[in-house]
Amino acid sequence: MKAWLSRLQDLDFSPASPEELAKFELGSALPSLSVRLEADPAMGEGYRIRREPDGGTVISGGSSGILYGAYALIRSSLSGVSLPEDYASAPRYSLRMIDCWDNADGSVERGYSGRSLFFDGGRLRYDPSRMRELGRLMASVGLNVLCINNVNVHFPAQLLLEDYLPEAAALADLFRPFGVRLMFSVDFSQPMRHGIPTADPMDPAVQAWWKETAARVWKAIPDLAGFLVKADSEGRPGPFTYGRNHADGANMLADAVRPFGGIVIWRCFVYNCRQDWRDTKTDRPMAAWDNYAFLDGQFAENVILQIKHGPFDFQVREPLSPLLLGMKHTNLALELQLAQEYTGHQIDIYTMIPMWHELFDELPTENIMSVAAVSNLGNDANYTGHPLAAVNFFTYGLLAWDPSVDAASAVTSWVKMTYGFAPDQEQALSSLLLSSRGIYEKYTAPLGICWMVTPHDHYGPNPDGYEYDLWGTYHKANRDAVGIDRTAAGTGYILQYPEWMQRKYGDPATCPDLYLLFFHRLPYTFRMQDGRTMIQRIYDDHFEGFAETQAMAETVRTLPFPSPDREIILERMDRQLRNAKEWCDIINTFFFRLSGIPDGHGRKIYD
Ligand code: GCU
Repeated sequence: MKAWLSRLQDLDFSPASPEELAKFELGSALPSLSVRLEADPAMGEGYRIRREPDGGTVISGGSSGILYGAYALIRSSLSGVSLPEDYASAPRYSLRMIDCWDNADGSVERGYSGRSLFFDGGRLRYDPSRMRELGRLMASVGLNVLCINNVNVHFPAQLLLEDYLPEAAALADLFRPFGVRLMFSVDFSQPMRHGIPTADPMDPAVQAWWKETAARVWKAIPDLAGFLVKADSEGRPGPFTYGRNHADGANMLADAVRPFGGIVIWRCFVYNCRQDWRDTKTDRPMAAWDNYAFLDGQFAENVILQIKHGPFDFQVREPLSPLLLGMKHTNLALELQLAQEYTGHQIDIYTMIPMWHELFDELPTENIMSVAAVSNLGNDANYTGHPLAAVNFFTYGLLAWDPSVDAASAVTSWVKMTYGFAPDQEQALSSLLLSSRGIYEKYTAPLGICWMVTPHDHYGPNPDGYEYDLWGTYHKANRDAVGIDRTAAGTGYILQYPEWMQRKYGDPATCPDLYLLFFHRLPYTFRMQDGRTMIQRIYDDHFEGFAETQAMAETVRTLPFPSPDREIILERMDRQLRNAKEWCDIINTFFFRLSGIPDGHGRKIYD
């Protein structure tokens, strides 16, 4: 299985360089085209494709630029979207990362596509031919950094920097011709495995250990992209233990990796995960800002702060994280999640690119210098569990290269490359994918409220599942009202935004409907902009979300997916239907029982 590359020839050798791979791909995918490759190292990852008077085509670029140019040509030919006669392109961001949450035992945290592609039984153990396919999938959409291990570094993943280094170096060799560099998640307390009694970033022995370690690691893998760190988050070790802040911690690691051109990607997912639900002062979405904004300008030049797109945790609808707008003197990366943790576990169809575009509507592209996405891959034959979930990996690559990529044409390209459907079927599948996020949103937690999901597992409804828990994720629905007031009169969260956003979201009369309950606490009888009461809108969305899922299932059944995709898609579609029905009934019943307000259309809600 080669996902969207299934019409390309098998790659049964290890190419020595991106150029060799480009030649192979062009020769096998576009045999009738005469293509000349022209090395221009100054172009780096960028490329230019031009048609010559004699009918030939020239691709010029740096080494990986030529490869990206070759794939651009192949994508254009397979998807029938022609390129201009003279076309140049260069990536908006130099680091376009995939973060795998794979554990050394072979399990995958929040993985919905089988087990790890890289690890098994506590060892690095992989199938080289699948690594080549993965390299090819990444290169075909311009992705260039692969972090292979979980940000929660469970033992023995620490050994990547130690005993497993030779095998990790062999893996890096495999990916190099694809223009893909490896990255490792590291454990901030790792020096303590070596007789050093502390991991304090100001301790000279700790600093020396990281310097020696970095020297050893980069000697084995000279082009390692860097270290990824989750510190002081959900029980992970970090600088707070020693009374240090996160600039102290990140800069210490940055000093260690700097001589080798390495970078430190430091995650900002830091919040109090032992909150008391009775505490009305602490508001979890404020945590990242509180922990980092005051450190703006204090991070070393080779540190990048990686920030989840929303202030909570990859919910179906969250506003943009204010931190992405508020740290003008710090290198930032946007973190997305392809793994469908809260968005249907790769059982429900959920295409993300419309949501990413909403983020970039408010996030100036120059605010960030790189993008990362939590992987949705595993060792299932099709890599993504649900065959249609591959559209998220594909479109993420295109978006990381150019955030202004058109959502509809990116999705349609994926459909065309993956399935040789007739035009009306292609059209049906593309629009189904493009509408899938909106449908999922309708049948799950309403109007930006978040967290009505089954605790821990995060699939299916449980409106009070997190309500009395310690994770800081409350909706406080009672008989009269629902939501958290995050305005200046409430928790004050909204004050973390620039003024224009405070105005946009701060007044319930102008706040976009889908964000209402994220920012405001409102009575069920609140009149929405379209004239409906809020409770009626909740009922309507849920009934519509389920009905639209039924319609989606009808379309899916008519499409001629090849086997085994067809069987997998139909089976998951049935599960999605059950899930949508469950969400619809439980959420509507939950609000009806609390509010006592019947549905204006008399549809069935359970008392
Ligand atoms: C979520 C997710 C965890 C993950 C964490 C993170 O909380 O449920 O499994 O470790 O995000 O991003 O670090």
